[in-house]
Amino acid sequence: APKGAELINAIKKLKAEKNAVILAHYYVDGEIQELADYVGDSLGLSQAAEKTDADLIVFCGVHFMGETAKILNPSKKVVVPDFNAGCSLADSVPVEEFAALKAQHPDAVVVSYINCSAEIKAMTDIICTSSNAVQVVESIPADKEIIFAPDANLGRYVAHKTGRELILWEGACMVHIDISLEKLKQLRVEFPDALLIAHPECQEMILREADYVGSTTALLNYVEKSDKQTFIVATEAGILHKMKLAVPNKHLIPAPANEQNSCACSECPYMKMNTMEKLYNALFYELPEIHLSEEIRVPAYKALKAMLEISK
Ligand code: 13P
Ligand code: SF4
Repeated sequence: APKGAELINAIKKLKAEKNAVILAHYYVDGEIQELADYVGDSLGLSQAAEKTDADLIVFCGVHFMGETAKILNPSKKVVVPDFNAGCSLADSVPVEEFAALKAQHPDAVVVSYINCSAEIKAMTDIICTSSNAVQVVESIPADKEIIFAPDANLGRYVAHKTGRELILWEGACMVHIDISLEKLKQLRVEFPDALLIAHPECQEMILREADYVGSTTALLNYVEKSDKQTFIVATEAGILHKMKLAVPNKHLIPAPANEQNSCACSECPYMKMNTMEKLYNALFYELPEIHLSEEIRVPAYKALKAMLEISK
């Protein structure tokens, strides 16, 4: 593959030749976000994947996001830069154990966070993202039991917001649960005027401290609209790329992880598996491609569609 500026131009050229669209999550590297046709949160990316008329979708994110694009738009070829870019949250729900939980609550409505495999989506009544989880749960009749999987932190947050009791799957995002409360508190002392804004995948003790809780897009909008100057951002640090572009004069502080790392921030190792070289190769070879059986795709589509109808 070419390098540097040549690599950027080669990606642009291939994209045009192949009528491809590059979709990227806010957590991937800034240089990939710069090349993408659409950068967004999980909800926005699903909506973009559903309505694209490109022939080839290159999804720079993690595996379940590529699958979601394929579920929503099966006539398109969907490729990802790295097939091994998974998600600790999606990996926390094995199909058999989930089936066992469902069997214990046969009348429950199953709500699954979009961060799960296509197989789990196929076992779900309605998907949600961090943008619409509260709305999705509120759409379910009050007399219904609800299973909520796989993110228990988001689940507890939604239960608190809606006053509904949820049967939780105890899954978590390895990145968000590793944000250090102690270090956040130190930052609060150092920057007393800063607002703490957090993603609902963070632990309850952090959400309780936060001035605002929302999805990646919601956090970005919040920083733009707020008249405050300084923000401690408790989510994956990739979001700071777009935030800095949106509010170049504000002070943005990424939330530190428990373990000291080179960026003094929180990074998703899976999202960071997307590189420019792999993006080029995915476009060039149209590989690795996401394939799904119709047996999985059709029920998964129904669960996603139920969410998209609510989030129009
Ligand atoms: P959102 O972009 O929907 O806020 O989700 C965050 C996330 O963890 C994606 O993996
Ligand atoms: Fe999964 Fe967490 Fe990475 Fe998002 S940030 S892809 S939830 S491991």
